[in-house]
Amino acid sequence: MALTAAELIKADQEHLIHPLHHPVDNAEPMIYVRGRGATIEDIGGRQYIDGLSGLWNVNVGHGRAELADAAAAQMKDLAYFSGYVGSSSIPAITLASRLVELAGDVHAVFFASGGAEANESAFKTARFYWKALGKPGKVKIIARQQGYHGVTLQAMSATGMAAYWKMFEPRVPGFVHIQTCYPYRFQGARPGETVGQAAARELEEAILREGPDTVAAFIAEPIHGGGGVIYPTDDYFPLVRQICTKHEVLFIADEVITGFCRTGRWFATGHWNVRPDIRAFAKGVTSGYLPLGGIMVTRAIKDAMDSVKPEDRWMHAYTYSGHPTCCAVALANIDIMERERLGENAAKMGARLHDGLRAAFGDHPHVGDIRGGKGLLAALELVEDRATKKNFPADRKVAPRLQAEMMKRGMVTRTRAVGGPHPAPGDTVYYAPPLVVTAAEVDRIVEITREAVRAVLGA
Ligand SMILES: Cc1ncc(COP(=O)(O)O)c(C=O)c1O
Repeated sequence: MALTAAELIKADQEHLIHPLHHPVDNAEPMIYVRGRGATIEDIGGRQYIDGLSGLWNVNVGHGRAELADAAAAQMKDLAYFSGYVGSSSIPAITLASRLVELAGDVHAVFFASGGAEANESAFKTARFYWKALGKPGKVKIIARQQGYHGVTLQAMSATGMAAYWKMFEPRVPGFVHIQTCYPYRFQGARPGETVGQAAARELEEAILREGPDTVAAFIAEPIHGGGGVIYPTDDYFPLVRQICTKHEVLFIADEVITGFCRTGRWFATGHWNVRPDIRAFAKGVTSGYLPLGGIMVTRAIKDAMDSVKPEDRWMHAYTYSGHPTCCAVALANIDIMERERLGENAAKMGARLHDGLRAAFGDHPHVGDIRGGKGLLAALELVEDRATKKNFPADRKVAPRLQAEMMKRGMVTRTRAVGGPHPAPGDTVYYAPPLVVTAAEVDRIVEITREAVRAVLGA
């Protein structure tokens, strides 16, 4: 007999360990049972707008039978076989070629199962590349505060938020953090300098301080996700690219969130005409229907892999690299994105969302920063005092209360609680709905936020 909702919750609390686990957040877990488009439904039959596409990944929306059919067809033929060197599969070959073509700035692809594995692969590949080129001392990785790159030990060490480190330290050595390009809170720009110029200068200073002969790569999300949906100024990434090239530091673009039409383009580095040496991807590649991720690399990196002696090979691997069923689902997912022009819808609905948030909150006394405009990736950062950017005290619990109020009104999304006094980020609400979201749903998202802010802050 099927368990009741109450029995399921009890079993969950007893036996299931969740990501970021703590019972304080699991007193009344939500159990979701189905989804269609940008809507999800819980076990009690209540429906919600999915304001974060699951976890920034269900780009084509929920309930796509076509993806289930693609998985079933591949499973019936050959669900899995090894992709280790000397063995291959048609979906993996086809997907690698398709991704190279879509990206237009890379030459080869290695598959992993998710974002952290993708970034692990990126860090090891950067080290490998410099060793292959006779520069074995180039091993350090420069990353940024507020960056989120996953939480395996190396990815966690790149992630620039201390809360993820605290109970797992020491971190892997060789990861260095600098300020990110955070126009609202950046500290230390010189007179006449844009925040983009100042943040890029910090990168160059860090490379010189550490010693260019010791630095393998710089990693950055084109637009931050979990750290606050922080948009850079438009001059930042072109400068980053120049600095990395000048000092022989590889540029790793972590496009785990920003890839696959999220920002209105296949990949976000295109907004600034910047070419990474390594691009990490995951999430949207399958819209979360099955786990898949990986790295795309330039011809120079592929050539290095192809030219070393067999005993110096790129000795990196996962059982599920190039998993045939996951790759078949990714191909069908990309077909949907192309056929339905979801990049265009993301750009259009993203502009509507950003405009809606600006119209609703542009003059609000507690909204410090409204971020958005590049596809369906937006945020609202709240402060106690707009003039000084003073944050609300943590014990007012503004972010979690907003999240609860939005939920009551039929929208699920994620918020981030204030991280301390300025310049730490304030309470922030995130928006990344599925790319199929409609104009009416976007308007409702803004309206729900307006009502929730009024309920929590009284204004
Ligand atoms: C930008 C970015 N990189 C990496 C990751 C890690 O991905 P995963 O959770 O699949 O390991 C995430 C996850 O949210 C992410 O947002």
